[in-house]
Amino acid sequence: MHNHKKIFRILFVCLGNICRSPAAEAIFKSFAEKEGLPVFVDSAGTSGWHEGEKADSRMRAHARKHGYEITSISRPFRRSSDFDQFDIIVPMDDSNFYDLKEQAKTIEESEKIVHISDFIAGSGYSYIPDPYYGGEEGFLLVIKLLEKASARLVADLRNRMNEN
Ligand code: 4NP
Repeated sequence: MHNHKKIFRILFVCLGNICRSPAAEAIFKSFAEKEGLPVFVDSAGTSGWHEGEKADSRMRAHARKHGYEITSISRPFRRSSDFDQFDIIVPMDDSNFYDLKEQAKTIEESEKIVHISDFIAGSGYSYIPDPYYGGEEGFLLVIKLLEKASARLVADLRNRMNEN
């Protein structure tokens, strides 16, 4: 049999693409690489408010302390190409989820959008809380929740790839 190694393409989305989704991108990438899962990872914002900016310095500092280097530059979600470019789209909260769902033009596009609560069950949270206006503990919480979500996402994607 041919060993068909498909690269899985995953996009994380939040509001500003400077806190949660850049952290998700870096943390998930680290988990996937450790597990040898072939992935292409990116992140985007439902808004373009911070387009061209590096991630929030507080988010970068907390991530670095936990061994994750955030290098992404903020960019808005692109309706015309992101649904085609990615296999799975992971919004950080319900607002991001419904924003993206409204932009999907087909069932296929809509089904690419998954709900983060499925990957953080048992954490006491059903979404990744926005840390932007809060204190330092909010950034730490983002990292802890995204580590849990990444471990489960990697396991989930491995199962999906074995099915194909
Ligand atoms: P993020 O956090 O969606 O996790 O990147 C935010 C960043 C910026 C703003 C809100 C949330 N803002 O209002 O500018």
